[in-house]
Amino acid sequence: MWERDAPEEMGDLTRCAHGGEDLLPSATDPLTPPIWQTAAYAYPDLDTLDAIYEGRERGFIYGRYGLPNHVQLERALADLEGAEAALATASGMSAISSLLFALLAPGDRVVASELVYRGTRNLLDLDLARFGVIVEYVDATDLAAVEASLQRPGQPPRLLYVDFLTNPTILVHDVPSLAELAHRHGALLVVDSTFATPYHGRPIQLGADLVVHSTTKFIAGHHDVSGGAVVGRSELVERARRQAIRMGGIGGPFDAWLALRGLRTLALRMGQSSRSALALASRLVEHPAVERVSYPGLPGHPQHDLARGLLANGFGSMLAFEVEGGRAAVARLVRALRLIRFAETLGGVTTTIVHPASTSHRSVEQAARAAHGIGEGLLRLSVGIETTEDLVEDLERGLASLA
Ligand SMILES: Cc1ncc(COP(=O)(O)O)c(C=O)c1O
Repeated sequence: MWERDAPEEMGDLTRCAHGGEDLLPSATDPLTPPIWQTAAYAYPDLDTLDAIYEGRERGFIYGRYGLPNHVQLERALADLEGAEAALATASGMSAISSLLFALLAPGDRVVASELVYRGTRNLLDLDLARFGVIVEYVDATDLAAVEASLQRPGQPPRLLYVDFLTNPTILVHDVPSLAELAHRHGALLVVDSTFATPYHGRPIQLGADLVVHSTTKFIAGHHDVSGGAVVGRSELVERARRQAIRMGGIGGPFDAWLALRGLRTLALRMGQSSRSALALASRLVEHPAVERVSYPGLPGHPQHDLARGLLANGFGSMLAFEVEGGRAAVARLVRALRLIRFAETLGGVTTTIVHPASTSHRSVEQAARAAHGIGEGLLRLSVGIETTEDLVEDLERGLASLA
């Protein structure tokens, strides 16, 4: 830490600006990491500045380039995913945009799942397409369709991009088979693993080249942080980092600190919430007011066997269900809930419910929504860590309002 002789005589304004600086260092370490709430670092001399810039000495420079709180979170995430490196960013979208802008150039072709998170789709369609990137969407649960798209004559594919578990209908992408296909055709596989989290699935271990997360969700886990991450091989992650630095995509230290604090309990939270999700899905399937339930842990899910092979420790905390009676029924149900909050996010300690037709898919035409199973009666549930029976009771209260 920084220590130097301050002048003995200082004016009041100088005292205000420098008071307390000399309290550090100490013979003891803090038990939990401090928040390095600084926008810049001070160098002792020019030689040290050169050594840091040239990578001969480890040191921090400037907040936008990342601070110790980011590095701690990055190490924890890389370790959990079994990857060489990670980059912690200001949001899930800044992770995705930094990565895609870093890897793609005009004329490059991307093959993406037609079920990617809407924000990613908007980025591909509205921004990357403007810079000459060619984007093609496929049903990535259909491996033959993916292969047909990857091998189409013309520009070879640069990237294959999928969400491990899809929003909002919770389908499962076969990451090992997609990795094999992507690599056979010279493309990298990027997987958004926000819904799975490293607790349930590790796409890099399954063959993916890069993983992205919205750490806003389960990783931070308390509905109070905005953050994202890119995880993978050092060379690719460092390209994303340089892009994020240029685009101003790295967030403040407090959010990184909170995300790491949330990560400490990821396994405990996911264990509880995925057990509750399975219990809720099993009850919903039997409820007369429910037309359809999508949860990979149910034997009736079209990819239950695939999910059993790819996911560990259960099947995640996200489920979707459709009620009879469309929008009017949804309005009654959400009004009757007392515990489950009607909110446009997911992945926190408290259970939240969302109506995709009014939120993420609001701007999508009704026919296109219907083609992907997103009707007016569809609700998506993100299960939190409450007592399972309390959640069952609340959902049954909501469903009873439809009778
Ligand atoms: C699967 C998925 N990926 C990425 C994002 C974007 O994350 P953020 O809101 O942190 O930018 C979201 C946000 O909901 C998401 O659900």
